[in-house]
Amino acid sequence: MSIAVRYYTESHHTEKLCKAAADAIGVEALGVNVPLDGPVDKLILGSSPYKFAIPEEVKTFLTENANKIGRIYLVSAPALYESSMKYVRDFCTPLGLTVDDNDFHCKGEFLRFHKGKPDATDIANCAKWAERTFK
Ligand SMILES: Cc1cc2nc3c(=O)[nH]c(=O)nc-3n(C[C@H](O)[C@H](O)[C@H](O)COP(=O)(O)O)c2cc1C
Repeated sequence: MSIAVRYYTESHHTEKLCKAAADAIGVEALGVNVPLDGPVDKLILGSSPYKFAIPEEVKTFLTENANKIGRIYLVSAPALYESSMKYVRDFCTPLGLTVDDNDFHCKGEFLRFHKGKPDATDIANCAKWAERTFK
């Protein structure tokens, strides 16, 4: 079973989570600027919401790599929403991509909300989620 990890991050929240998940299962976490170098059964996609949407960089990655992605497992750290699930699914479904119900999400700091999140516990929980899901 092949697994890849790609993430988009501005303040390193989603990056920290994805790196912990990747380390836990022995793969490399890379940014969405790095295309997949071949087909993968499972893609861990780190994408927290920005301005009620998926970042354009994530949309570009998904569009350009759609034919290489088996199933998507989402990691997100929103400040306001529970997760990015709805937004990522709404974009992925027309591309023929499935986003599994089994995602990882926690709060992410934004302005005066959720100071220090994701914290060490969130990062450890993301690693445990990856072990449970992919090992
Ligand atoms: C300009 C801006 C817009 C944001 N818009 C949303 C939003 O619409 N919904 C939400 O839940 N969080 C929103 N957030 C919070 C981010 O999703 C949150 O801080 C996340 O942890 C950032 O992850 P990153 O550091 O990996 O980029 C916004 C943050 C910024 C800076």
